[in-house]
Amino acid sequence: MAKHAIQVTVNGAAQTAEVDSRLLLVHFIREVLRLTGTHIGCDTTHCGACTVLLDGAPVKSCTVLAVQADGREVTTVEGLEQNATLHPVQEGFHQEHGLQCGFCTPGMMMTSVALLRANPDPTELQIRQAISGNLCRCTGYVNIVKSVQYAAAKLREGSPS
Ligand code: FES
Ligand code: FES
Repeated sequence: MAKHAIQVTVNGAAQTAEVDSRLLLVHFIREVLRLTGTHIGCDTTHCGACTVLLDGAPVKSCTVLAVQADGREVTTVEGLEQNATLHPVQEGFHQEHGLQCGFCTPGMMMTSVALLRANPDPTELQIRQAISGNLCRCTGYVNIVKSVQYAAAKLREGSPS
């Protein structure tokens, strides 16, 4: 198996590694970097539990090779909190009880962060469309939508994103 030297900026820190060609980004994040907040819920690109931001865009990291992240920036759920302050999206999921088991939550939050950067005042339909690639088997989605609406309002007030 061919090895490749890669350099990826993850949550603001440069990371270098030698990786197999076939290593998935999600395995690089979880097993090489030990950032286990990014979850694996399927192997078919359906569930969205593995969602991270790649150069700011949400991607399902089970569908991206680690070598494709070479020279790029990755943000995982661990990168949302800044200076011991929760990101408004994290705060929203906490305040509005947007989770039950929490397995889908990191992916939901990363998708929501990207949505709110692109659209600071989304409608409920736009929120539901944005998270349509993130499956939750616990909550019924109502409180997830409320969580994103909470975060949107907070960000519009000027909280850091
Ligand atoms: S683990 Fe990536 S979409 Fe399910
Ligand atoms: S909170 Fe359990 S899968 Fe979403």
